[in-house]
Amino acid sequence: MAGGGPAANNGVLKRAHLYEYNITGYFIFACVVGAIGGSLFGVDLGVSGGVTSMDDFLKEFFPAVYRRKQAHLHETDYCKYDNQILTLFTSSLYFAALVSTFGASVVTRKKGRRISIICGSISFFLGAVINAAAVNILMLIIGRVLLGVGIGFSNQAVPLYLSEMAPAKIRGAVNQLFQLTTCLGILIANLINYGTEKIHPWGWRISLGSAAVPAVLMFIGGVFMPESPNSLVEQGREKEAREVLERVRGTKNIEAEFLDMKEASEEARSVKNPFRNLLKRKNRPQLVIGAIGIPMFQQLTGNNSILFYAPVFFQTMGFGSGSSILSSLITNAGLVVGALMSMAVVDKLGRRFLFIEAGIEMFCYMVMVGVTLGYKFGDGVALTKGYSVMLVIVICLFVTAFGRSWGPLGWLVPSELFPLETRSAGQSVVVCVNMIFTALIAQCFLVALCHLRYGIFLLFAGLILVMTVFIVLLLPETKRVPIEEVYLLFENHWFWKRIVGTRQPPEKEMGEKEAKEMGEKEANLQA
Ligand code: BGC
Repeated sequence: MAGGGPAANNGVLKRAHLYEYNITGYFIFACVVGAIGGSLFGVDLGVSGGVTSMDDFLKEFFPAVYRRKQAHLHETDYCKYDNQILTLFTSSLYFAALVSTFGASVVTRKKGRRISIICGSISFFLGAVINAAAVNILMLIIGRVLLGVGIGFSNQAVPLYLSEMAPAKIRGAVNQLFQLTTCLGILIANLINYGTEKIHPWGWRISLGSAAVPAVLMFIGGVFMPESPNSLVEQGREKEAREVLERVRGTKNIEAEFLDMKEASEEARSVKNPFRNLLKRKNRPQLVIGAIGIPMFQQLTGNNSILFYAPVFFQTMGFGSGSSILSSLITNAGLVVGALMSMAVVDKLGRRFLFIEAGIEMFCYMVMVGVTLGYKFGDGVALTKGYSVMLVIVICLFVTAFGRSWGPLGWLVPSELFPLETRSAGQSVVVCVNMIFTALIAQCFLVALCHLRYGIFLLFAGLILVMTVFIVLLLPETKRVPIEEVYLLFENHWFWKRIVGTRQPPEKEMGEKEAKEMGEKEANLQA
């Protein structure tokens, strides 16, 4: 069996059944900080698309692009949006993010998740201010790079932090706050753009500067938030770790969870170079699925291209200049609905179910878009209203399916796969691979659309098929499995067990009775 439900998982786990938790104020605060991190990512993703289409912005920094845009205003072909300089401006942020995330990995591992989140927020703030004040392209690019560094740090630390702070049973939903607020951030950014577009000639400055608001909130949150107990144990601060874990879980009975953390950290301490460790056989599944496969495939679903192309369909339906905002409102609403659906079921139905069910749907929708465009659009032939309406519905269904599967799971699943010893290094590779493919798709989609035409959507359909099979065969179910026991799933997986073998636990395994006794002793001591 490739996967396995909770019954199968319970058979292979050590002391997951002994974990206890309550929902505490401390835990809710941690969630709020995570949510702000997501909204910053979303504002960054959402703002630049709108700003780069604002005439005032183009006239000031990219006059040639502006003239070209005016000349091609009424074309109905696949190449009208192809412009490399502008997309390079957009992608510069992703390139900065993918480099800086490796620096972030060292900080996250050695100094903790909190410091990385604070560093990220400072960089975001500076980037937003410099962008808002930009008087030349150099300032724009420096601002973009600083925003990218902010993403490199916060996307590295925030999903990790959420996965570590969350009780195993609701980890999926908690981690997905990141995706929910990413989508809300995109939506808010679009609404801001809609308003600032009408403020001439400097409305774009408000748009670019708006990222400073969540950056300040994230900084304040970062200063006051507790460090994750896993990170404290990793840094050798065990007493503090125990205190934080007790406060976050709202119980003194944390012995089983604490023991898992200690075991993980003993393993971690023996590792000198976490990146080299990532390449070891025992970490092969995490590398292949978590660090490379999932972040790469998330972008190869074509979701971001669909989001980008949606305005064209809306325009064709006769919505004129309001079409961009309308399309982003509808598609982002689809993403938000998807994220909420996912949060509701991810810890009950599991990650595999969502990946597979939504994957099949997304495949069908991409084929429908490709085939409809192939027959009904291009070379001067515009889409009829009827087909446009159909495509808009299909696009909504597609983004909702992405919004409940590859969108949130693309960040959740990698963050819960890595053992402590390679967690921050692994998460850096996740961010790096995700950013490489985000940038590549941003950079290449318009050229690909121009040359492959409707075929690009069929190509995405084929890729969705490949990634769904990848999940079916290789991803074990991680729902409700404590983060420090996830590695056991690979030791019992039909394929991975041949590669990873079995780990020797540093300590004798603790039985239920022993754990209870230890908890009681602990409670007595405290009293
Ligand atoms: C992805 C982004 C995407 C966003 C909204 C995130 O999970 O990483 O590339 O734009 O979801 O769809």
